[in-house]
Amino acid sequence: MKLKNQEVFKEVYEEYYQLHSSWKAIPEDHYYYLHREWFFPNHIDLVLEHVMNLHKNYLPEADLEVSMFAGLLHDSGLVYKRDEPSPDGHESRSCEYAQLILEKHGLDSEFIEAVVVAIEATDAGNVADSKEAELVRNADAYSHLTSVHFWAKAKFAREIGYYLSWLEKKIHTTLSKLTIQDLIDEITPVVDRYQDMLTKHKENMGSKFIDRM
Ligand SMILES: [Fe+2]
Ligand SMILES: [Fe+2]
Repeated sequence: MKLKNQEVFKEVYEEYYQLHSSWKAIPEDHYYYLHREWFFPNHIDLVLEHVMNLHKNYLPEADLEVSMFAGLLHDSGLVYKRDEPSPDGHESRSCEYAQLILEKHGLDSEFIEAVVVAIEATDAGNVADSKEAELVRNADAYSHLTSVHFWAKAKFAREIGYYLSWLEKKIHTTLSKLTIQDLIDEITPVVDRYQDMLTKHKENMGSKFIDRM
């Protein structure tokens, strides 16, 4: 499928790709999962694929151009102007970066505003205020629950206990972002299974089999 702004999209993709450091430049313990050789194939590109597929199959009324630019730039705040370990609030930095780069590439303000609205909806605390926002929010959440994302986060986390309690919250908030019923039906059993594993883990920690006989 071709976008109307295909050439601009490719230029913005390439420029944003360069905003993320290469794995060669980031020490292993510093936001390692954000290096571009990892983050693009394992998150951004997947989100873009899901935007296209979900647009075709479920939300054809959403503007594909707006949704694709929002999908591309929705996590740019994970690196743009980031000066703290917490990713909290990265969506508003993503909006700022999107505004800057899209203006620079000559896109009009109405288009950019629609992109910003869609990026804001990737924040779990916000709601989807447009069809594009709904599309990008679903694509982002679906990507996390159908890729190696959570395994990678485990590898890049410092401590397994901290990671597992983060994971337990994350699987539920991510599932709650889905609004397309087929995706909810597909993913709910996966999240239930993750939850069973985490519950079993907590039950078994701190006790021995022989004490439970
Ligand atoms: Fe995000
Ligand atoms: Fe994301």
